[in-house]
Amino acid sequence: MCGIVGVLGSHEVAPLILESLKRLEYRGYDSAGIATVNAGKLDRRRAVGKLVNLSDLMVHEALPGKAGIGHTRWATHGEPNVANAHPHRSGPVAVVHNGIIENFRPLREELAAAGIARESDTDTEVIAQLTRHHMDQGMDPQQAVGATLTRLEGAFALAFLFDGQDNLMIGARKGSPLAVGWGEGEMFLGSDAIALAPMTDRITYLEEGDWVVVTREGATFYDRAGQRVNRSVAKIQLEQTRVDKAGHKHFMAKEIAEQPSVLGAGLTHHLSADGHALAFPPEVDFSRCDRVTMVACGTGHYATQVAKYWFEQIAGLPCDIDIASEFRYREPVLSDKGVGIFVSQSGETADTLAALRHVDGKLAFTLGVVNVATSSIARETDVALPILAGPEISVASTKGFTAQLLVLLLLALKAAHDRGRLDDAGLAAKLAEIKMLPGTLAQALDREPEIEALAHKISAAQDVLFLGRGVMYPLALEGALKLKELSYIHAEGYASGELKHGPIALIDETLPVIVLAPRDALYEKTVSNMQEVMARQGKVVLISDRAGLDEAGAVWATLAMPGVSDLIAPIVYAVPAQMLAYHTALARGTDVDQPRNLAKSVTVE
Ligand code: F6R
Repeated sequence: MCGIVGVLGSHEVAPLILESLKRLEYRGYDSAGIATVNAGKLDRRRAVGKLVNLSDLMVHEALPGKAGIGHTRWATHGEPNVANAHPHRSGPVAVVHNGIIENFRPLREELAAAGIARESDTDTEVIAQLTRHHMDQGMDPQQAVGATLTRLEGAFALAFLFDGQDNLMIGARKGSPLAVGWGEGEMFLGSDAIALAPMTDRITYLEEGDWVVVTREGATFYDRAGQRVNRSVAKIQLEQTRVDKAGHKHFMAKEIAEQPSVLGAGLTHHLSADGHALAFPPEVDFSRCDRVTMVACGTGHYATQVAKYWFEQIAGLPCDIDIASEFRYREPVLSDKGVGIFVSQSGETADTLAALRHVDGKLAFTLGVVNVATSSIARETDVALPILAGPEISVASTKGFTAQLLVLLLLALKAAHDRGRLDDAGLAAKLAEIKMLPGTLAQALDREPEIEALAHKISAAQDVLFLGRGVMYPLALEGALKLKELSYIHAEGYASGELKHGPIALIDETLPVIVLAPRDALYEKTVSNMQEVMARQGKVVLISDRAGLDEAGAVWATLAMPGVSDLIAPIVYAVPAQMLAYHTALARGTDVDQPRNLAKSVTVE
């Protein structure tokens, strides 16, 4: 959701900034821009669409300078055009912004009254204008930014650059992440460590409300009260920032293929050395807990929807799940013996973070199930449990989903054990089933040629339904989400038994109905629902194991999955849903890694 970068370098910075923006492009690709200071003069280049348009522009219109800031945009206020592209400039001030300034309208009016005209429809422009206004009144850049920050409401990560100042950048963070990178005689700002990885592995994350004055000689940090503060420097693991496709055509293909090793890493981390017990921190104790509340968005929400079955069936714990953007506003009734679980791959999703802040002090403890260990949700929950998926660059989440499911399943087992519903031997037996996951996922990945053929059949459809029962119902929702966001085919997920209560009206000979149904205790009921679809000429695509396919009889298409235990089935069945969406998107020629209108890490509400 917008990526920002800043460099005070010892050489030309435009190529470095472009390289960083490439690594941040997953955050938005509606437009991109760079500003530099060269021989004291501030200048900028901006282009609509993907970063390649900006780099093409800069071949003809070079942007020299050893100090610069850059931005890749996911549009919120104002359509994606050049005027709305960052950096925004007013007089001597250029700024790039990730977030939303909620009070931009009154500020814009105030600035207009002061004779400062606007050039864009964005909320961001007021930041440059206000800072310029303060400088017009005699403040230096640092004082001007300090004064501006006190006027801004909303969420922001900012990087400022100033005309006439080629050894100064100012950064600020409130609600959106920002990191300072330390080099040798060079300094950097960036939305995350991935952006800064080509330049440095020494990073300082700004705390909430911090701002920072950066020169080539170092950085001075101030907290939200304007007091000088020390912030520590961390050395980042470079393998955590590798963003190459490792020979795959797309990041998504690589990330799907990585799932056996990702889940293997999750098991190694969260299980005891002998693999018979769990190794969560001691604070993760459900023995006095009376309720679990899980909050997430999108794919993470579907992971919590699966986990609700696990917590209730295995641990006997009542469980509420909420879409984060709804949570705060429904005035949830919380118990001081309740445990809150906040699930987020990026750890920065604004709605989930706001939900976490909403429960502050009202629950026994909070857990973050996160991929980015340094993220806001990781830092603000009582205990952060890493899913260890490694960087997920493709905008559509794949390995993040299965890695979230693994951690949630292990947590449900922990709850069952803590509450006496599972003894040591019972826990070890369940863990033995779960340890089959890497191997079983690899078998599921081997089905790719059949899935590709199936995708070609699906790719001509206008609409697709996904059906599932029990733990497969959230998988149907996730399958539909993956297909629609990647291929732009309208897709819906339904609980199999719900079909006859309305959606069955859609069934005709043009509608593929994808049924995710391992041969489990609910299977016969699902077969009846498939019969109802076929009786109306619907095209059933059955994804099941051998036993299930044999029992179902003739359908339009089938996909044979490896036989799996009920416990791990939802994790394994995510793989065909992901590959189906991937190959359907390829067949339709859409942009797999960067689907239209989307961005990863949604840091606005
Ligand atoms: C869909 C997808 C999104 C994210 C959602 C939450 O493929 O990736 O629905 O799951 O935006 O993101 P995180 O997990 O980063 O909070």
